[in-house]
Amino acid sequence: MEIVKTVDELREILKRYKNNSIGFVPTMGALHDGHISLIKRSHDENDIVVVSIFVNPTQFLAGEDLDKYPRRDEVDKKICELAKVDILFMPNIDDMYTGNDEVKVVAPAVRGYVLEGFIRPGHFDGVLRVVCKLFNIVKPTNAYFGKKDAQQLVLIQQMVKDLFMDINVVPCELIRDNDGLALSSRNVYLTQEQRTQALAIPKSLKSAAKKIGMGELDVSVLKALMSETMSGLNVEYIAFVDREFNEINKIEVKNSIILVAARVGNTRLIDNIWI
Ligand code: PAF
Repeated sequence: MEIVKTVDELREILKRYKNNSIGFVPTMGALHDGHISLIKRSHDENDIVVVSIFVNPTQFLAGEDLDKYPRRDEVDKKICELAKVDILFMPNIDDMYTGNDEVKVVAPAVRGYVLEGFIRPGHFDGVLRVVCKLFNIVKPTNAYFGKKDAQQLVLIQQMVKDLFMDINVVPCELIRDNDGLALSSRNVYLTQEQRTQALAIPKSLKSAAKKIGMGELDVSVLKALMSETMSGLNVEYIAFVDREFNEINKIEVKNSIILVAARVGNTRLIDNIWI
């Protein structure tokens, strides 16, 4: 595995692979089994795999956990090596951002500012800005993103389409721990007691999916059921959208996503299920 720290060096190395398919997994590190599943899929579908680790400051709002965000470079390098990553790109901030007066990418005015974008205004501008930069540096054939960050995934797909980027964005299944909690780098912040409380989130999604399976398609009924299951948590939103992220009142099977954001202690968790 080659560990690359600068954009110039990465571009130089990638010249060797201009006739190969490149699979790309962008991350902010603190790698877990969810990331490893993206890397594995990328391996299966491409000649070489590039992983980036960059805790992107522009997607954190003032007062968010940028400084506290888990950084585990040495462990992450080992994980990537074991997962047979070909190139690990770990740029520093000055390499990715050249100054204060940069050309920026702006998330769409509605879809980028509802749900996660409403609670974290400007977050998706930062995500799209860094992903655009990373795509231009790596020029991947296929780029892999987890369905856990559903809104991020849909916005990246839209950016690729709207900006005519020649990249295939591959949505990958959300991975859960044995107890049902969706894998997230932020799970490390949870105490054992908080983790037990947090299990109400996947439980509520599962109970909604079960009801849908039994024929209940009315969103207000499903929402009430989910609120009850999560009554012990500080729920920020329970949302029902179609795959284009428009709000829905009735479930349409194969075209709906149920999303939850909740705080357990100081930790903010998101989860979802694609119906
Ligand atoms: O999902 C993430 O880890 C980040 O938002 C991403 C896509 C790597 C951009 O910083």
